Amino acid sequence: MGVIIVAAGSGSRLGRGTPKALVPVVGASILERALRPVFGMRAPAQVVVVAPADQLAEARMLCESVAGVASDHLTVVAGGSTRQQSVAAGLAALDESVRTVLVHDAARAFTPSIQFELVAAAAEETGAGIIPALAVSDTIKQADATGAVVRTLDRSELVAVQTPQGFPRDKLVAAYSAATEEYTDDAALFAAAGHPVSIIAGDVLAFKITTPWDLRRAEALARESGG
Ligand code: CTP
Ligand code: MG
Repeated sequence: MGVIIVAAGSGSRLGRGTPKALVPVVGASILERALRPVFGMRAPAQVVVVAPADQLAEARMLCESVAGVASDHLTVVAGGSTRQQSVAAGLAALDESVRTVLVHDAARAFTPSIQFELVAAAAEETGAGIIPALAVSDTIKQADATGAVVRTLDRSELVAVQTPQGFPRDKLVAAYSAATEEYTDDAALFAAAGHPVSIIAGDVLAFKITTPWDLRRAEALARESGG
């Protein structure tokens, strides 16, 4: 199995002036925290970290410190200017032997090992794209540019999607080569190539650190779990 961790974003909404993955959360960076559960999985995987191009050396050092003796399973490559380009760079670095690949946001730094294992197992079993999702708790409305509400969506049909997302490697690579536009997630790109995608239960711990408020939540969690 392969796990691609995309960590090359700038973190503009977090607004720290450093790439988000390198922002510390109580003594360990978001990237280090995201990697710990990946190297904590029972079955070893090839781990490809897609890091900010201008901080590649620093990112590589952090990753190697988390990987420890497993660092021969670690590959660190430079990302692109969009998430999709960063995932493509990660796919290009996968070992020949990888059959199933998980794509994960470093910003979902508290996602537990079991979630990676569940997504991988479902992807291997079904050959479909597998995405973890949570029910939405807010009412979701569609509005136009003037702010007028167009309609209220049926909440029972909606889910909020997380990562890691799991795919058969060959089909995802082909879908990436065929993609001619930007998609909001890997599953949308995969589905656009005609492949089935199914959801499994998401995990509240897989929330994405996006805003300063999310970072506060992350800091509270890190302190609760002993740093
Ligand atoms: N990502 C990436 N390469 C990019 C953009 C995003 O690898 N060019 C990664 C981010 O590092 C993050 C994940 O994709 O782990 C999800 O993206 P997001 O939360 O949007 O992170 P940023 O793009 O860094 O944040 P912002 O959109 O606020 O600038
Ligand atoms: Mg972004």
